[in-house]
Amino acid sequence: MVKKLLVLGIESSCDETGVALVQCEEGGGSEQVPSLLAHALYSQIEMHQAFGGVVPELASRDHIRRVIPLTREVLTEANCPLSDIDVVVYTRGPGLAGALLVGAGVACALGAALGKPVLGIHHLEGHLLSPFLGADPPKFPFVALLVSGGHTQLMRVDGVGRYLLLGESIDDAAGEAFDKSAKLMGLAYPGGPLLARMAEEGNPKAYALPRPLLHSGNLDFSFAGLKTAVLVQSQKMIASQGAGAFGDLPRIQQCDLAASTQAAIVDVLVKKSITALNETGLKRLVVAGGVGANRHLRAQLNDACGKRIIRVHYPELHLCTDNGAMIALAAAMRLQSGSQQASRNYAFDIKPRWPLDAL
Ligand code: KG4
Ligand code: ZN
Repeated sequence: MVKKLLVLGIESSCDETGVALVQCEEGGGSEQVPSLLAHALYSQIEMHQAFGGVVPELASRDHIRRVIPLTREVLTEANCPLSDIDVVVYTRGPGLAGALLVGAGVACALGAALGKPVLGIHHLEGHLLSPFLGADPPKFPFVALLVSGGHTQLMRVDGVGRYLLLGESIDDAAGEAFDKSAKLMGLAYPGGPLLARMAEEGNPKAYALPRPLLHSGNLDFSFAGLKTAVLVQSQKMIASQGAGAFGDLPRIQQCDLAASTQAAIVDVLVKKSITALNETGLKRLVVAGGVGANRHLRAQLNDACGKRIIRVHYPELHLCTDNGAMIALAAAMRLQSGSQQASRNYAFDIKPRWPLDAL
């Protein structure tokens, strides 16, 4: 009989503390998708909002406060005694050093106390594999569009741990472009989802904003210039209306600029994703990361891929942004595929900067 493994995962790379319990089969290359038994999440967003962005020291301290209660919550929900856990895993990087140290320290201490092995996981691999927890899990190989707050990358994915970088942002990430534009519009941190909500009421063609690197001939992205264009456009609007601030403009104008900004970001993401699919000849696209929750991006990708008979897979909406489930899942898939083993060496390290294709 195949032995089942219970994997406890801890995510603490930025401003969300996530803990999850996943069950998988031990080694041997099983193709079974691991199952999520329970997960719990605490978002620090409210705490950081007062500062307009994540304050690393406050983030680390809050992870310390949350991680044990969240672990208890998950074990209670799954009706799983601590001693039943087989492997403890954590986000090893990339992310904020102090925040990563909390998850790594707790996971390794727990592993040592229980005498169970531990494993450090790449945060972006967690995002990348998160659609496997959805109702319509993908199959390898596929092209992945990773769009988070810190990264924008196109990867060719041939299996667990087999990632080839096809292109990435040379400056701001797509999530940053959303958040920085939203900040210019006076929206609270992180403004991406708020800007997206306003965009639904606006006209995406109202203002002509640049589509950086759209015709660059490669699969790289650049979003820093777009942010400047949004700033210039908003200043023009404020000056022409004699308004004091962007928020004083008529709401429809605010929504039009939000819609035009979102359309510029989404156009580039869709065009480059289609080029990556054409170049690789693959017929499957996986979208992951916080910006993957964006409804306009999903609609445009569904449309462009539908016309080309390409299947698109997304994570469940609540698993698009950071969470512990994706970290436990990535570890479970690594262990199950036999591509990596957990270790009883509890002298952990973290990797605040860590390219995914270096795995
Ligand atoms: O993947 P994630 O949780 O964080 C990183 O690992 O970096 O992504 C967070 C990012 C933020 O920039 C946030 O504004 C953006 O995802 N985001 C969105 C939406 N929901 C989250 N951006 C646009 N539209 C959304 N609906
Ligand atoms: Zn993330």
